[in-house]
Amino acid sequence: MSEIIGKVSTQDAIALEERYGAHNYHPLPVVLARGEGVYLWDAEGRRYFDFLSAYSAVNQGHCHPRIIGALKEQAETLTLTSRAFHNDVLGEYEKYITEYFGFDKVLPMNTGAEAVETAIKLCRKWAYEVKGIAENQAKIIVCDGNFHGRTTTIISFSNDAGARNNFGPYTPGFVNVPYNDIAALSKALEGENVAGFLVEPIQGEAGVFVPDEGYLQAAHALCKKAGVLFIADEVQTGIARTGSLLAMCGECSCQGHCEQQSNYRKPDILILGKAVSGGVYPVSCVLADDDIMNVIKPGQHGSTFGGNPLASRVAMAALQVVEDEQLALNARRLGKRFREEMGRIIEKTDLVVSVRGKGLLNAIIINDSPDSSTAWDICIRMKDNGLLAKPTHGNIIRFAPPLVMTDDELTECLRIIEKTLLEFKR
Ligand SMILES: Cc1ncc(COP(=O)(O)O)c(C=O)c1O
Repeated sequence: MSEIIGKVSTQDAIALEERYGAHNYHPLPVVLARGEGVYLWDAEGRRYFDFLSAYSAVNQGHCHPRIIGALKEQAETLTLTSRAFHNDVLGEYEKYITEYFGFDKVLPMNTGAEAVETAIKLCRKWAYEVKGIAENQAKIIVCDGNFHGRTTTIISFSNDAGARNNFGPYTPGFVNVPYNDIAALSKALEGENVAGFLVEPIQGEAGVFVPDEGYLQAAHALCKKAGVLFIADEVQTGIARTGSLLAMCGECSCQGHCEQQSNYRKPDILILGKAVSGGVYPVSCVLADDDIMNVIKPGQHGSTFGGNPLASRVAMAALQVVEDEQLALNARRLGKRFREEMGRIIEKTDLVVSVRGKGLLNAIIINDSPDSSTAWDICIRMKDNGLLAKPTHGNIIRFAPPLVMTDDELTECLRIIEKTLLEFKR
């Protein structure tokens, strides 16, 4: 029998979750007990490559020593004051992150969904108080196939039946258009009372849909022309994941000075989460310039934990790691290699239709119906071979390892994926 390194065995841990936890997830049957860099170990000490990175939160690798160091030091000093008082880290963090991304102001929150909610509120308030839309009439354009979180308002404009059904009544004020369709967006922008366009620069949860070259730039230009706020949800694509600091940056390597790049279209509102903290602590935020952010006044929005000193210290350390270790460039280089070598692997099997993605946010499309269990079964087999990835939307497998991966590690991972795909029998 394997040695148990965690506090419980795999079997017992799963049984406890099954018995006492709400069944709102369907995890792969693996119980993780330790993480370091690109590796995870299960309760019995088996080692895996992490190819999910907690949905792109752990871009800096598991338990990065500099982020954990910042966490420990701040945890022993001051963790939470609420915003009823000032704390001596928040201002430093606000200066740091606004300069890092080139915005006047930041509004700190905790989870991605909270930051999306914040952006929606900010956009609506701006619409009434600056743009002059009549009360309660503001509309925000969103895309089919979107994923922006799980709150009641956010699921109101989702087309995913599982996320939405039987959670109504739904929040009004949203107009859906097909993703990657400039003509449809252009038409929707002609509608009355449009305040904002909320978009993921790459649709991650929907299966890593990369829009056509030029789509985001054209959408940005249309919004500018219509006087509508362009709101980029970079919760999953941001912080170097797609080979640049933000997916909105395109192929730039600016590491934080996006405004100097010719192909960068600065969103009016930028939503970040996940890897802002390197997956160490829930930290999210919304960034905007003064003409938009200043519509929010005391008492109109907030969160007990948002902007706490622990979060602020952790986020500064995590963002500094991204810059110092040039993670955007590594993601771009390794991502290109991954897609090229996956392309060669999938030529050897009819199990996979294609590979797509940008930087280290990639996916393969399995040659089977979205209702089949094939992608799930492949993930189980990859787990047995030492690599953890998860299907999204049935027949799509997302591959998103931590960005601190080396070439040698990627070579070993490609070998595991190839071995699994070639040995797999339906
Ligand atoms: C694009 C996007 N927005 C928002 C969210 C929601 O983030 P959270 O799960 O932290 O609420 C996610 C989560 O996957 C996401 O991918």
